[in-house]
Order: sequence, then C-alpha cells, then structure tokens
Amino acid sequence: MLQLTTTSNGTSRVGSRTGPLVVGIGGTMRPGSSTEQAVRAVLSAAEQAGARTHLLGATALQLPLYLPGETRRTAAARQFVNAVRIADGIVIGSPAYHGGISGLVKNALDYIEDLRDAPRPYLHGRAVGCLVTARGSQAATTLTSLRAVVHALRGWPTPLGVAVNTENVTFAADGTTTDSHISSQLSLMGEQIVEFALARSTAA
Ligand SMILES: Cc1cc2nc3c(=O)[nH]c(=O)nc-3n(C[C@H](O)[C@H](O)[C@H](O)COP(=O)(O)O)c2cc1C
Repeated sequence: MLQLTTTSNGTSRVGSRTGPLVVGIGGTMRPGSSTEQAVRAVLSAAEQAGARTHLLGATALQLPLYLPGETRRTAAARQFVNAVRIADGIVIGSPAYHGGISGLVKNALDYIEDLRDAPRPYLHGRAVGCLVTARGSQAATTLTSLRAVVHALRGWPTPLGVAVNTENVTFAADGTTTDSHISSQLSLMGEQIVEFALARSTAA
C-alpha cells in the first residue's frame, strides 16, 4: 500500500511504481472494523491485478462536518480530497447505520464537492466498487443508496456490489474471511475496478 505525500501546493505524490492507483475509502472507528477489513480485501485484490493502492480508513475519514462555503481545509481533508483527485479507481465501504450510509463515510464523500471544477470532476471516469456491511438484510438497502451517491458524483459503480452480513461473516486482521463466497466477491470487485481503469487509460 502506498504512502501519499501532500506537497505545499496541495498536490499528491504516489511514488514511482506504475499501475493505476486504486483508493479505498471506508470503515468505522470500531477496533477491528469489518468494513475497513473488507475494503482492505478489495485493495489487496486490486494490487494482485497490478494496481497501486492507498487506504483512507476510518481514522483518515475523521473530518470536520462539511460546511458549504467554508474554504479552509484541515490537513486530513486536503489529503482525502487529493487522494480522490488522483485516484484511477475507488472502492467505498460503509456500514449500514439505521438503513443508510454511516455519517462518517457520507461526510467524507461530501468533501468531493471540492473536485467540482477539477479536470476529472467529482468521480468522473472512475470505476467505484460499492460495498456495505450490516448485521442483517438491510445491507441491500444501503448498497442501493451508496450506488445512488456514486451516480450523483458521476462515478461508475462496478457491476458487482458486495453486501456483507457481519452476523455470519467474520474478518481476520489481514482482511481474509471465513466465507469463501464473500472473499471471491471482494476479489472480483478489486479486479473489476482495475480492469475498468486499464481500459479507460488505453482508450484515452
Ligand atoms: C448505530 C448503528 C446502527 C446500525 N444500523 C443497522 C441497520 O440499520 N441495519 C443493519 O443491518 N445493521 C445495522 N447496524 C449494524 C452494522 O451495520 C454492522 O454491525 C456493521 O457490520 C458494522 O461495521 P464495522 O464492523 O465496520 O464496525 C448498525 C450498527 C450501529 C452501531
């Protein structure tokens, strides 16, 4: 996984390795967050498929509540926006909180408004894997709303979205899970993100 360096003019360096950059966004502040582990598993598959990756887990998502009209940004907010700006593919993971996306994740996504006038506005031209964890069947409802957010941000949700019922599926610290079906879905999502990024770069 890459360490992004934000320079004084607000741009980010990602090192000299090649391959599309896939940025993972998501998690909860709960120690051992299954959402963050699931995002890690997708990034790991993306790396296997030839991507560079960077994780913006729950700690990196602790940003002040997005305030329209406020142009000052904390260092964490600048790093978040810059990582999204340079990403070639993205995976977003959220827990289902009361039938919707968590406030932590949605607040961070609101900062993508800063990319309204970017050369690639919002999530334009990027494949976005959408994954949700929930202790039950409401994962599907939340997955639908996460996809709607990605569409509103002009991203391309991957054909495969993943809903993980954490009542039945547990993650190890390295992102592996006891459920082979979920493991293969998370891998496929990583592959689809990279496949799209490579196809777009060839077409450009
Ligand atoms: C405040 C809160 C609200 C939740 N609401 C729902 C819900 O509406 N539906 C559901 O299936 N699970 C709900 N859950 C369960 C979480 O979605 C589930 O435990 C998730 O996997 C937690 O992710 P984590 O392991 O990354 O912390 C809720 C949990 C919390 C703490």
